[in-house]
Amino acid sequence: MEIKVDTGKILEKNYELLVLGIFEGEKNYGVNGIIDNALDKEISKIVKTPEFNGKLKKYCLLKTYGKMGINRILLVGLGKPEDFSLENIRIASGIAIHSIRDLGITSCAFSIMGEKSKIPIEKIVENTVIGCELALYQFNLYKTMDHDQLKKINKLTFFIEAPESEDVVKKSISIAQIIDKGVNLARNLSNMPSSDATPTQIAEKAEKIANKSGLNFRVLGKKDMEKFSMGGIINVARGSSQPPKIVILEHNGGGDMRPIVLIGKGITFDSGGISLKPSEKMEEMKHDKAGAATVIGTMQTVAQLNLPLNIIGITPLTENLPGGSAYKPGDVLKMCNGKTVEVINTDAEGRLILADVLAYASRYKPQAVIDLATLTGACVIALGSFATGLLSNDDDLKRLIMIGGETTGERVWELPLWDDYKELLKSDIADLKNVGGRPGGVITAASFLSNFVDYPWAHLDIAGTAWMQNNAGLKPYNPKGATGVGVRLITEVLRFWKSKEFCS
Ligand code: BES
Ligand code: MG
Ligand code: ZN
Repeated sequence: MEIKVDTGKILEKNYELLVLGIFEGEKNYGVNGIIDNALDKEISKIVKTPEFNGKLKKYCLLKTYGKMGINRILLVGLGKPEDFSLENIRIASGIAIHSIRDLGITSCAFSIMGEKSKIPIEKIVENTVIGCELALYQFNLYKTMDHDQLKKINKLTFFIEAPESEDVVKKSISIAQIIDKGVNLARNLSNMPSSDATPTQIAEKAEKIANKSGLNFRVLGKKDMEKFSMGGIINVARGSSQPPKIVILEHNGGGDMRPIVLIGKGITFDSGGISLKPSEKMEEMKHDKAGAATVIGTMQTVAQLNLPLNIIGITPLTENLPGGSAYKPGDVLKMCNGKTVEVINTDAEGRLILADVLAYASRYKPQAVIDLATLTGACVIALGSFATGLLSNDDDLKRLIMIGGETTGERVWELPLWDDYKELLKSDIADLKNVGGRPGGVITAASFLSNFVDYPWAHLDIAGTAWMQNNAGLKPYNPKGATGVGVRLITEVLRFWKSKEFCS
C-alpha cells in the first residue's frame, strides 16, 4: 500500500474518505471541530447517539453532500481519553480500514488520531500504519479466485495540520511499513502448508530474503549437524524423508559488539512422531514452524531498519513424522553439548531441536539469546491466546521483553524457572529425559532447555499466540490464522536495546 503525507487546510482537501478518531465524550476540537462546523454540527449530534458514542471498536460513516471537498467521513471510536494507548490506536485503525475495504473504496485519508493526547505523533502514526496494514493481511495463495477482483486499498494519506511534523511522520510511516512486511512475511511462512514449506524450501526462501535485505546467510545440513553432534535435530528428522536444515541469518550493524541471538522452533509439521497426536486439529501443526517464521521475519525487519546491533537468527527446521526410521520412545540421544537425553515422548520434539541450537549458540559468546517456540499445549491451557509465556534466567532481559510486550500489545506473562522443576526431568539411564509429566508443562519444557544455555536467556512459548482460530484472541489487526507474533515484540526490544545498561 502506498502511504503519503499531506498538509494544508482540511476544508480544501478532496479525499474520497477521511477517518476521524473520536474519544468517548469528546468535545470537538482541532480538525474535528472544523469539519463539525462545516457539516452543521452533524458530528456533535451523532456522538451523543447510542449508535456512535466514541466507544472503542464503534464506527459511523457520514456523507458530506457537497458541504466540503471530502466526500465521506468515517468516525471511529477511540474509547475513553484516559485509556488511550498504542493498542487502542491499532485496534481503531484496524476497525476503520476493514470498514473502508468493505465499502470498496480504494484510497482514503487518516487524520492523526488523538492528536492532542500525550502520545507523540510519531508513535500515533507508526501504530496507525501497523493497525491498518496488519488488518488488511489475507492469505489467499491457494484460492483460485480472480485476485484482481479482491477489494484492495491502494493508497492511504495522512493529513497533518502542522507541516513541520512532515518529516517525522514520513519516517514513522517507513519504519512501520518495514515492520509490517516482517510480520506479514512471518504470517505467510507460518500459514504455508507443510508440503510447500519443507525445511529445504524454507531455507531457499530465507536465502532469497537474506540476499534482498543484506543479511549473511548460511545453512547447516545433516553432515554439519553430525559434525557438531546435534543428536536432537538429527533424530527428530529421522522419521521424515525431508532432510533437516539449520538456517543462520546474520545482521552485522554493531561493529565488534557481542551479538544477540534469536532462535526459532521450525518444526514444519508436527505429527507427534511415533507418539502420534490425535487427528483432530492436527492440521494446525503446520504452524509448529511459527517460531522460525518469526525469527526470519524479524531478521528481515532488523536488516531493513539497519539497527546498530549484531543480531543472529538461527532456525532449526525439520518435520516430526513417524516414518520407518523414526526415533522412538526409549532411545537415548547425545546432544550438541555432550549431554544425553532419554526420549519418553517423541511429541516433545521442539525442546530437542532447540537444545542443540541453544548449545550451538554459545560459540557466539552472545550478550543474550531469545528463543521463540510453539513449545507446549500446556502454555495454551495456562495462558490461552492473550499472552506468550516468558521464562528467563536474567532480570534485565526479562524487563526489556515485558516492556516490549506492553508497547506492542504482544503481551508476555512470566512463569518461574526454579531449580525445583529440574527434579522432574531426571532420567534413570541418561542425564535427562525429554518430558517431566503434565503438571507445570510449560515450565518443565523451559527447564529442559535451561540445561543447554550458559548466557542470559529468555524463552518465549508462543503456542497460544502464534495463530488464532475463532477464539477470543482475535483482534481487528490479527485476522484468523498466523499472527506473526514476536516480530513486533522482538523488533521493539532490539530497537530500544540499551546494550551498555543491559550488559553491565
Ligand atoms: N508443537 C507441540 C505444542 C503445541 C500443542 C503447540 C498445541 C500448539 C498447540 C509440541 O511439540 C508438543 O507436542 N508438545 C507436547 C509435549 C508433551 C508431549 C510433553 C504437548 O504439549 O502435548
Ligand atoms: Mg510435538
Ligand atoms: Zn511441536
